[in-house]
Amino acid sequence: MELSRRVLAVKPSVTLEIAAKAKAMKAQGVDVISLSAGEPDFDTPAFIKDAAISALQKGFTKYTPVPGTVELRQAVCRKLKRDQGLDFTPEQIVVGCGAKHVIFNVFFALLNPGDEVLIPSPYWLSYPEMVTVLGGTSVLLPSTEKTNFKITPEILEKALTPHSKILVLNSPSNPTGAVYSKDELLALCVVLRKHPNVMVLSDEIYEKLVFDGLKHVSISSLDPEIAKRTVIVNGHSKAYAMTGWRLGYAAFQDKALAKAVESIQSHSTSNPVSFSQSGGTVALDQGDAEAGRMCAVFQKRRDLFISLLKAVPSFRPFKPSGAFYLFVDIQGTGLPAFEVAKRLLDEVHVAVVPCEPFGSAHHIRMSYATSEKDIEAAVKRIAGLFPKK
Ligand SMILES: Cc1ncc(COP(=O)(O)O)c(C=O)c1O
Repeated sequence: MELSRRVLAVKPSVTLEIAAKAKAMKAQGVDVISLSAGEPDFDTPAFIKDAAISALQKGFTKYTPVPGTVELRQAVCRKLKRDQGLDFTPEQIVVGCGAKHVIFNVFFALLNPGDEVLIPSPYWLSYPEMVTVLGGTSVLLPSTEKTNFKITPEILEKALTPHSKILVLNSPSNPTGAVYSKDELLALCVVLRKHPNVMVLSDEIYEKLVFDGLKHVSISSLDPEIAKRTVIVNGHSKAYAMTGWRLGYAAFQDKALAKAVESIQSHSTSNPVSFSQSGGTVALDQGDAEAGRMCAVFQKRRDLFISLLKAVPSFRPFKPSGAFYLFVDIQGTGLPAFEVAKRLLDEVHVAVVPCEPFGSAHHIRMSYATSEKDIEAAVKRIAGLFPKK
């Protein structure tokens, strides 16, 4: 059997692999603490489940329109008006099976061989893999702790070429938790205005998880000219603890692009799951209070985690302003991230994610989408393996 060259160029998702290995160890009776999860540990709020159950009971079990039900797309429009002050109509919204699926479809609709996708680094590992499989070229824009793991106008300017097609922005970021301010985004808009052919894919999946009284800002809400060429991607997974429901959506000013994405979806998954969409509709309309409660818990855990890690000087966490990950500099251990992650899992049964596939061999990602008790126990184990010198 010969696999396609496209698939041979792709690496499987390390995060899912580690989560699976940790689960398998747990199943064998090993007391594993998993800090590898990319999903909230909370259950989906009951009123959302009830809406899906009721839809099932009413027989809402058939295909839906390809881009999602009108009700869900109307709820997305209400949400974008409420949170971002943006006007969209349901024809400008495509709902897919998770934000990951939606991003894939958007790249699919836009990329030709030779097109460059600008990806600020560190980055969510799926972006470059998707670009590769779709025949585009990823251009990584390096950022460091000096700029709080955010790109600056200078970094962006330097990376732009006549082949640049899409800039990916992800705020709050996975894996760093960095959040772009309004002024930082406005400064990027100044550069983008000089490059009218560059589109922006704004991945806002962690929008509802922003700490310390900061407010998430969408680049689309700042500059009407940039908004025209921005695709907003968002979804239900992180905000409403709905990872298994597989719902994500994109909002397009450009209706032709929305149609193109819909057309691709019509030949792959057809539509997102019918009764998931019923839950997804009430989540968008009524889920903010629950999202806010979960966010407050994440912030509390972040603070606890950072304070406990003071006992492990070779682990230096970056203080995140959003999402639910600690991006931890492990250079003090003298080991590359893969090795640190391997030792933590094999020797003290703590699962973390090495960040080589996220653009840094000097960092691991530790999720705090887990209980305070687990965070405390994990740090004790880590301190045992990497003690103070
Ligand atoms: C930055 C980022 N974007 C998108 C996704 C995709 O989320 P989903 O497909 O569950 O909506 C994730 C999930 O981990 C993510 O971290």
